[in-house]
Amino acid sequence: MKSKFYLFFALLLVVLAGAMAQPKDPKDLEKQHDRTMKVFIDALLAKMTLAEKIGQLNLLTAGEATTGTVVSTDIDAKIKAGQLGGLFSMSSPERIRKTQQIAVEQSRLKIPLLFGMDVIHGYKTIFPIPLALASSWDTQLIKQTAAIAAKEATADGIHWAFSPMVDISRDPRWGRISEGSGEDPYLGGLIAKAMVQGLQGNSLADKETMLACVKHFALYGAAEAGRDYNTTDMSLHRMYNEYFYPYKAAIDAGVGSIMTSFNDINGIPATANKWLLTDVLRKEWGFTGLVVSDYTSVNELIDHGLGDLEEVSARSINAGLDMDMVGEGFLTTLKASVAKGRVSEATITEACRKVLEAKYKLGLFEDPYRYCDSKRAEKEILHPSHLEKAREAATKSFVLLKNKDQLLPLAKKGTVALIGPLAATGANMPGTWSISADLENTASLFEGMQAVLGDKVQLVHHLGTNLVSDPAYQARATLFGREIKRDPRAEEAIRAEALAVAAQADVIVAALGESSEMSGESSSRSDLNIPENQQRLLKALLETGKPVVLVLFTGRPLTLTWEDKHVPAILNVWFAGTETGKAVADVLFGDVVPAGKLPVTFPKHVGQVPIYYAHKNTGRPQQKEKWFEKFRSNYLDVDNEPLYPFGYGLSYTQFNYTDLKLDKDQLQAGQQIQVSLNIQNTGSYDGYEIVQMYIQDVVGSVTRPVKELKGFEKVYLKKGERKTVTFTITEEDLRFFNADLKFQSEPGTFQVFVGPNSRDTQSLRFVLN
Ligand code: NOJ
Repeated sequence: MKSKFYLFFALLLVVLAGAMAQPKDPKDLEKQHDRTMKVFIDALLAKMTLAEKIGQLNLLTAGEATTGTVVSTDIDAKIKAGQLGGLFSMSSPERIRKTQQIAVEQSRLKIPLLFGMDVIHGYKTIFPIPLALASSWDTQLIKQTAAIAAKEATADGIHWAFSPMVDISRDPRWGRISEGSGEDPYLGGLIAKAMVQGLQGNSLADKETMLACVKHFALYGAAEAGRDYNTTDMSLHRMYNEYFYPYKAAIDAGVGSIMTSFNDINGIPATANKWLLTDVLRKEWGFTGLVVSDYTSVNELIDHGLGDLEEVSARSINAGLDMDMVGEGFLTTLKASVAKGRVSEATITEACRKVLEAKYKLGLFEDPYRYCDSKRAEKEILHPSHLEKAREAATKSFVLLKNKDQLLPLAKKGTVALIGPLAATGANMPGTWSISADLENTASLFEGMQAVLGDKVQLVHHLGTNLVSDPAYQARATLFGREIKRDPRAEEAIRAEALAVAAQADVIVAALGESSEMSGESSSRSDLNIPENQQRLLKALLETGKPVVLVLFTGRPLTLTWEDKHVPAILNVWFAGTETGKAVADVLFGDVVPAGKLPVTFPKHVGQVPIYYAHKNTGRPQQKEKWFEKFRSNYLDVDNEPLYPFGYGLSYTQFNYTDLKLDKDQLQAGQQIQVSLNIQNTGSYDGYEIVQMYIQDVVGSVTRPVKELKGFEKVYLKKGERKTVTFTITEEDLRFFNADLKFQSEPGTFQVFVGPNSRDTQSLRFVLN
């Protein structure tokens, strides 16, 4: 009895001492967690054979949705043999539980597996594609969408998201421009942070959060000629000042993993690039998480011309890659490379540590089934509150490009004809990279609009024309179950029928543009027009003399020069996810006033690409008054201006910007300048406006962009309401990487621009001393 009492007392003391030793400062607490993790992982590593460590570096696909030509085989046998660290593209808590069981019951060391997935813009509740979400300029909203995606994915057993994709792109020919946040580093960086915070939450150990993976490191969006997977070649100056920024922002936000890109970077592909993966990522930026390759990107180094599989695998792990996705180069060659002294066992141990740490942080060692609660899936996936958020996000992502004579919003009465190949396809609404979407149960534009409008509006629809004239092109552009019904008849016959449907209507809504798979991976285009047959349909619809609204579906900037000239109203809805139809009805009929702004420039002509607002001046810039002048930097056949500039987007109401002021015109380091202006809603609707602030460093030791976004605010103004918007500028906001890659500001004159987009701005100057 006495000894039991002493035992109890001793235990109590240990618990109390533990509680007292618990540091209060979160930083110290984190250090303590890291120490505990290290002790655990060191002990595990000490038990592992070289083969088992190599096994942890192997990431395979379960094949439910593959994104490459290689498919993984013999998965169960590999798990039992300790030859697998993780699997991706498997869903359902039951299936994942069964597979996890093999790892924790039948492999020698019982190490749980990681389960990943491309959870890009939602899991089952699909939000707008990333480029569309970026058009909301609403980081809080974006964070909420990512948190919902994490909640649904973890409810379905998945705990690692291959997201966010933060590649800056200024080339709309590149199909994957749809998966990122557009052309601007500052906006892209804020969104990267919001996505990481949304997916990872406050703690990875939380059951509703998941490990994020920022990708594709690096410069993938700068592929030459906009052709996917192509070479990139870029100065360090541009990398540091522009393209690196969002990756770094994700890392600063605590992202747990990073994916290498497919592309060559100045002669060494990212997956084997030691400078990139070790010098920049680990040493300069202090990244401590897991580095994973892209799908077979290690093997692809063979085609890049770097050697055979053994050579490229050794080179990748020595460069700083930890985990090999799908290709099994690590699994099949690293043992031999260690034997030959090409790779040290210590390098493999460190890579394995990163994989184990990710598992540890997710709480998988504590409970390998913590994401396998099937009750959660039933309750949480497609929850009405998630669908509501999807509808809100969709309306906030739309960009009103034109609205002549206030054609929009439409009155909720009469007959509306919905004409075009995007009118009646549910499968195309989620947009590219929505691999877990339930395509069969996604409402089409017609169905979604009908659900909102009920019998107030008589809604009729017709295909109008095929997506593209060439059936083979259409097949390429509608893969992965994203079919659009094809009418085999002649274009004229289909159109005549559509015109008969349109004849019954008061207003025509033309649902035209791209199919969802015309953008995304391996979907580059050389022509950025709406397909010709669709343009012919649009012309015919306009010739009816009825009001025509173009509801534009696209995953990239298109060249809408003809449309802008002839169509009275254009609403760009991108691909807006599960609730597209309802959201389009909300905006077209005025229940929601559009407020989205373009996160990427829309060119007039594909020949202007790459075109972006933060360009440098040349020594022979175009003159304001004259779009062409001999011996200036211009084209013979088109001016240099975009059709729609970065930051552009209209509202149903109008905003008036006045009284731009600086509170001082000299800035010292450590001080700040306030830029303020008054903004008034002078139109007849309540609405949001995104007020943007840009800065130009007028004279520098190196050439500097003509302007760069440095701040924005989304303000809500009731009809007639006026508000003052204030931005604060500090010396830190003026820093950039100079010719020696030192991040610093330079004294001199700066110009501040404020306005509703990057073109229509007012400006003032100040001096940094
Ligand atoms: C290839 C893509 O480039 C990448 O973004 C994706 O995460 C992987 N496949 C896995 O599906």
